[in-house]
Amino acid sequence: MREDIQAAKDRDPAARSTFEVAVGYTGLHAIWMHRVAHKMWQKEQLKTPARLLSQFNRALTGIEIHPGATIGRRFFIDHGMGVVIGETTEIGDDVMLYHGVTLGGQSLEKVKRHPTLEDEVVVGAGAKVLGPVVVGKRTAVGANAVLVKDTPEDAIATGIPAQIRTRRSAEEAKPAVDPAEYVDPAMWI
Ligand SMILES: CC(C)(COP(=O)(O)OP(=O)(O)OC[C@H]1O[C@@H](n2cnc3c(N)ncnc32)[C@H](O)[C@@H]1OP(=O)(O)O)[C@@H](O)C(=O)NCCC(=O)NCCS
Repeated sequence: MREDIQAAKDRDPAARSTFEVAVGYTGLHAIWMHRVAHKMWQKEQLKTPARLLSQFNRALTGIEIHPGATIGRRFFIDHGMGVVIGETTEIGDDVMLYHGVTLGGQSLEKVKRHPTLEDEVVVGAGAKVLGPVVVGKRTAVGANAVLVKDTPEDAIATGIPAQIRTRRSAEEAKPAVDPAEYVDPAMWI
């Protein structure tokens, strides 16, 4: 829980004290309740109570996480309301979601049908990631994108359907001529 609180403080510039984050951030309450529900889900006789706990979690926080979803460490949902995470979703460490995100399925078959988010993925507000796609490490899915294909690591996915590009390296982003070093040839004339 300490790690989760720290993750929230690191990723939300509006976060102030540990007390305020621990008591006031429903995204944290949702993951804490999910961890209990997920543990219960492993035992056949506790599956129904696990589903009910997950529904109670949804009523309290506005975040619906199926107890079967596997979620790594330091997971943070900012704002929370309207997030849906499906049963066969797998989420790595240090992943962050904003409000309105759906990690959903496209198939009605009882197979792996929800996304896999690798470590350090960020999914922007309102984005939908659908089907058993793999979102590569450190990828950012833009706000309101609809992503239905795998992405490589370090990608940016934006739009509907999401277009995928690699993160521009700092080198590429630099202008061809550094304005600070630019000497106008006219000064030699
Ligand atoms: C996509 C994202 C991760 C930024 O990636 P980035 O590489 O830093 O993007 P940039 O700001 O350099 O923009 C690059 C291009 O993508 C476009 N773009 C940025 N975000 C976009 C989005 N969500 N959807 C569509 N296009 C987007 C920009 O307009 C720009 O287009 P251009 O090259 O034609 O000018 C970010 O914009 C985003 O959506 N983050 C989610 C944040 C969020 O949900 N915040 C909620 C806080 S409450």
